[in-house]
Amino acid sequence: MSSKPSPPPPAAQLDVELVTLFPEIFDSFLRASLLGKAIDAGVVRVHRTNPRDFARGRHRQVDDSPYGGGPGMILRPEPVAAAIEAVEAERGRAHRLLLSPSGRLFDQALAAELASRGRLMLVCGRYEGVDERIADLFADEVVSIGDYVLAGGEVAAAVIIEAVARLVPSVLGCEASTIDESFTAGRLEYPQWTRPPSFRGLGVPEILLSGNHAQVAKWRRLESLQRTRVRRPDLLARHPVTEDERVLLDGGVARRRKRPPHER
Ligand code: 6GU
Repeated sequence: MSSKPSPPPPAAQLDVELVTLFPEIFDSFLRASLLGKAIDAGVVRVHRTNPRDFARGRHRQVDDSPYGGGPGMILRPEPVAAAIEAVEAERGRAHRLLLSPSGRLFDQALAAELASRGRLMLVCGRYEGVDERIADLFADEVVSIGDYVLAGGEVAAAVIIEAVARLVPSVLGCEASTIDESFTAGRLEYPQWTRPPSFRGLGVPEILLSGNHAQVAKWRRLESLQRTRVRRPDLLARHPVTEDERVLLDGGVARRRKRPPHER
């Protein structure tokens, strides 16, 4: 019997290469929720490669002590380089990120940029660091997810995958949610409520039950703005109050609700 060869599967919309000494950290993360479904559907593809599989010697040692002294162990460059090169020899060049607390801060703008690249490699550090020659020879960018220190890049990689994957059309399930975000850059989200109408003595702002969509939209913009002012003055400094927002602040709109204790 001769059957036609089956056509190659359609290209994924997001193709992620993880280079990590702990590939099992990602097991449940990659199976769960919308990301798991996107992977099952072939919209997102994730490969994991362990530099330890490229380490030489009986002990497959991937780390060593730092030149110049100091605490902890440093990832040696050879197994990481070999892993990166093996991945690209098999599946092609990717935009390469080295994950490190010394990197450029990851934010929504970088998430959008990465989503448009289509093929990414996330190289996770561990121990006290990675030999600097990996950054020098391989990294297209060095990225951090925030001003705190994690034991390794794996959780940072999970954060980046989740933020980027939900920007891929057909992953989120409701694209309106990301469109709305682009109109509110530099502002925190407004608060939301659902049923029941009264919970442990707390009700729901009346305006939201009014059915007046224009007034609801105005009220939400004011809530976003005031919440940003209280919680994230740094955002307000980078995205100054617009003329429209000045009008909102100067009144003409239903007053803001009373501040809850955690905001005082
Ligand atoms: Cl990317 N790696 C580590 N180890 N710590 C971090 C980080 C990355 N981003 C913030 N803290």
